[in-house]
Amino acid sequence: MSKVTAKIESAAQTDSVTLIDNASNKSVELPLLHGTEGPKVVDIRRLYAETGFFTFDPGYTATGSTESKITFIDGDKGILLHRGYPIEELAEHATFPEVCYLLLNGELPTPAEYEKFEHTIARHTMLHEQITYFYRGFRRDAHPMAIMCGVVGALSAFYHDSTDIDDPHQRMVASHRMIAKMPTIAAMAYKFSIGQPFMYPRNDLNYAVNFLYMTSAVPCEEYVIDPIVSRAMDRIFILHADHEQNASTSTVRLAGSSGANPFACIAAGIASLWGPAHGGANEAVLKMLHEIGDKSRIPEFLKRAKDKDDPFRLMGFGHRVYKNYDPRAKVMQESCHEVLNALDKKDDPILELAMELERIALEDEYFIEKKLFPNIDFYSGIILQAIGFPISMFTVLFAVARTVGWVAHWNEMIEDPHQKIGRPRQLYTGPSQRPYVAREKRR
Ligand code: CMC
Repeated sequence: MSKVTAKIESAAQTDSVTLIDNASNKSVELPLLHGTEGPKVVDIRRLYAETGFFTFDPGYTATGSTESKITFIDGDKGILLHRGYPIEELAEHATFPEVCYLLLNGELPTPAEYEKFEHTIARHTMLHEQITYFYRGFRRDAHPMAIMCGVVGALSAFYHDSTDIDDPHQRMVASHRMIAKMPTIAAMAYKFSIGQPFMYPRNDLNYAVNFLYMTSAVPCEEYVIDPIVSRAMDRIFILHADHEQNASTSTVRLAGSSGANPFACIAAGIASLWGPAHGGANEAVLKMLHEIGDKSRIPEFLKRAKDKDDPFRLMGFGHRVYKNYDPRAKVMQESCHEVLNALDKKDDPILELAMELERIALEDEYFIEKKLFPNIDFYSGIILQAIGFPISMFTVLFAVARTVGWVAHWNEMIEDPHQKIGRPRQLYTGPSQRPYVAREKRR
């Protein structure tokens, strides 16, 4: 791999940076952009045209892929704002539909707007009856995230009127449909896996309660909901609603940048979320806690997490952006205690193990030095298990909540006048051009 020596000089007074290629002594001045919050951003859009260079940043560790007004994270301070509002305040005072409205429309709803929005979402919760037949095609033991990828992708075949993505009204109808139908699809995936009849949505229940009803109720019994559980569910949805340009959101934006059907784009987001480094971590945390099994085995697992030759990582720890405590994890930890107390499960051995693991890891030199703190997934699985969800449903719940974030970003991307198809370049290190060798002459 050849290397070009280049130097970046910051010139605060001109509000630009100069990139100098030492080999040719050529330079290019690149503007610095300022957002309302966060670090300055070097605008490299003219770089290739003026220098013939690309940038190289695998995993986008220092690359802003878009301008956005939806969510801001200060990873060093542990701050998360949706449309300017701190996540802690939203989790304490707002409801999930309120946060959905905020993410989609940019402002908190007035009482009338809120009522109308809840009504609209409630009226879109049912699925086309034909969709129920898709479930029968899956094995009973299929992972519910696999079912989610398939069924949500299949929605693109049902809503032709939503495919005119240039029409803001049709875009909003598609957005409402996705937010409203995702809990129904998720609950049906669960009911299918346990062999129980599908429970149709109920428009008299709020978003979180309706979801709990569709997953927990059975036709032969009256369904009684514990308000502590429904509030916890609502809060879990709020905490997972959006997280700026994470892997699944960037996937939705990239898929959508070609003008693809929005339902298919959300299915792509679900696929990306499924991985254990992203939303699949909540499932992985619980599996890890069960594998550790006892406090006495924590040192053994910490040793493995620090061993470069062992692929094991402490699931629920570390984050690309947060180099401080994930603010969502703090709220989740509080909720976890509340729910376990209310359900009389406060002596839950898994919670005790998790708290001890957290305590020991936070005092460990390796985790301190690498700024590895518990993330949102560390505690969410414990609450979800206490509520009664099986481990395989944890990432599905994340997908239900994150749908609004995906949809808000997809809309923002389509409306962006600078929007282009996402098409990264590469640092090619394969063979240089060579002539084809006939098969019989190859040795
Ligand atoms: N356990 C042990 N070591 C870790 C961990 C961990 N959980 N996370 C990071 N490290 C180490 C890593 O080995 C690396 O060490 P070195 O510098 O010596 O090579 C250093 O810390 C930096 O890690 P990285 O993988 O380069 O950082 P990243 O920003 O690419 O990855 C992450 C972030 C979240 C994928 C990673 O921390 C991780 O795999 N954590 C466990 C999975 C997890 O909890 N994911 C949920 C993320 S939050 C919710 C969401 O996004 O959906």
